[in-house]
Amino acid sequence: MGEYFTRDDFQRAAEVIARRTSLKPKVGMILGSGLGQLAQAIETPVRIPYGEIPGWPTSTVEGHVGSLVVGTLEGQAVAVLQGRVHYYEGYTMAQIGLPIRTLQMAGVGTFIITNAAGGVNPEFHPGEVMLITDHLNLIGMAGLSPLRGPNDDRLGPRFPDMSRAYNRELMALARETARAQGILLREGVYVCLAGPAFETPADLRFLRMAGADAVGMSTVPEVVAAHHAGSRVLGFSGISNKANLDGTTVTTHEEVLAAGKEIAPKLERLVRGVLRGL
Ligand code: HPA
Repeated sequence: MGEYFTRDDFQRAAEVIARRTSLKPKVGMILGSGLGQLAQAIETPVRIPYGEIPGWPTSTVEGHVGSLVVGTLEGQAVAVLQGRVHYYEGYTMAQIGLPIRTLQMAGVGTFIITNAAGGVNPEFHPGEVMLITDHLNLIGMAGLSPLRGPNDDRLGPRFPDMSRAYNRELMALARETARAQGILLREGVYVCLAGPAFETPADLRFLRMAGADAVGMSTVPEVVAAHHAGSRVLGFSGISNKANLDGTTVTTHEEVLAAGKEIAPKLERLVRGVLRGL
């Protein structure tokens, strides 16, 4: 495999999944830092370590298990990425997009993508969940896109529209579920940075001025790849810490993982409600 993957690579990876399970997943899910617990709820699970799928990158970060779990949840056939890889780990954007492409080849047309994020909106508190209504693609503006390289028109257009990257019907379903379950669901704009260093107070003031509500180091490249090929996308950020706009507190990965314990059960109820409504 060269710098970029081709449709044949996606197909080969999808065939490995098809060989391991007769279930054809329709919904793909990515579980972010400390949020992997939902994978335990999958019924009749078939677990495939990322290392067994050709070309798939393996996660090196604590809190990211690194297996694909295929099974059912709320009667839907799902494929769950328990853990993801990030640009800062040294992977290319093409590698970050590969799991999305593989699942699309396997028949997935809907993605629920989650992450742990810092709350840039001063009204957001650790432990809350934010519905991602739009994103600020700073990592893309810096030239890092999973769509860089030759475009395969069978997947999607060279210049894909991103005005509706997050699907409106799915957002409505998420709001409805949150209301029915009594879960406070924040809404806002997620900004993706390359990391791995957390932001300085000046970075954070800049991001807030630019319209960001939550900040993290993932999700946007995956959403771009998913939307490019016509998949429906729903995104949630678990607010794991208050971003430090005035320099009075510090941010640690331990605190991100600890907040995940509070966020994961809420996220599970939201995701179950959305799956029931599909
Ligand atoms: N900044 C960037 N990424 C993050 C944060 C943060 O504060 N929290 C969790 N992921």
